[in-house]
Amino acid sequence: MDELDRIVAPGSLGDEGTVESSLRPRFLAEYIGQEQVKENLAILLDAARAREEAADHVLLYGPPGLGKTTLASIIARELGVRLHTTSGPAIERPGDLAAILTNLDERDVLFIDEIHRLNHSVEEILYPAMEDFAIDVMIGRGPSARSLRLSVKPFTVVGATTRAGRIGAPLRDRFGAIHRLDYYGETELAEIVRRSAGILDVEIEPAAVEVLARRGRGTPRIVNRLLRRVRDHAQVRGDGRITRAQAEVAMSAMDIDEQGLDTTDRRLLAAIVQKFASGPVGGAAVAAVIGEEVETIEDVYEPYLLQLGFLDRTPQGRVATEAARRHLASLGYEIPPPRRGDRMDAGLWDGLTTEGRIDAEEDR
Ligand code: ADE
Repeated sequence: MDELDRIVAPGSLGDEGTVESSLRPRFLAEYIGQEQVKENLAILLDAARAREEAADHVLLYGPPGLGKTTLASIIARELGVRLHTTSGPAIERPGDLAAILTNLDERDVLFIDEIHRLNHSVEEILYPAMEDFAIDVMIGRGPSARSLRLSVKPFTVVGATTRAGRIGAPLRDRFGAIHRLDYYGETELAEIVRRSAGILDVEIEPAAVEVLARRGRGTPRIVNRLLRRVRDHAQVRGDGRITRAQAEVAMSAMDIDEQGLDTTDRRLLAAIVQKFASGPVGGAAVAAVIGEEVETIEDVYEPYLLQLGFLDRTPQGRVATEAARRHLASLGYEIPPPRRGDRMDAGLWDGLTTEGRIDAEEDR
């Protein structure tokens, strides 16, 4: 399935972007969850306002859909400055970045999404810009070329990445604040669902809120998307009010199971369990079997499966856990014995083949 089609894909909003943005909190006070990040940002923003200076540069990292972009726009709004949005891959040449930087007004926020994908020559322009609010541009070429230092107005970079490990020390060190966003708890997701339902002006019963929060993969963007789909069901099939039964019907119509996994997640786990004896297996091999990019698997699918405890990463590769095997077994998947690692629980083997059991014993 294309990532765009995945209801639980945290990325790519398509034409739902407008609705999505209406659900986004605009100020820190409206933002639910990530308490520690909010507290730190509040201090950073207060201090910048008090000094009447540009705020320190902020790097936000963590899985997609958790609110990095939202926080960038909150930072700009709270500072009362303009937000300029770009991304690592969008800035192809140093000149592109120089053009953006020289267009900034004092204290503006420059949001650079996927900042780990900036190319090296562009990064080189960014360093002095972040540190000294200056850029070095080359004038002319060949022996007569010289470098000219231009100043830019003090500004704030908010960088976002799903891959903190891909950011080199020189860039990382230029951020005054670095914050990791974590998956939201069910209570926080429930609060977000209620808030969004209020904005969308749809009535939702508490049990239905729970169904959504449970399957929202710890991700506000996903839970908001599920809410809109369930709202469609309630409008078309019911009286517009979202009941628990409707929420459940909508989830199964979308093939989203009780853990919030969709068909692609299950295919990924099933591939590891069935084709690679539960692992360990390398990312490229899994990617080939399920027909997705390694990077997509690592950024979009795996983080939540790791968080759920369905996947482990070892130096030898990914391993599907006992919990993953149980989950798949409960959905009727055939579960061959794991090559290595944790013992299969006897209960799970009831009703499965005896050969499996014998193989598993021999393997130990
Ligand atoms: N909508 C999306 N993310 C949110 C959050 N963290 N708080 C409130 N509403 C949201």
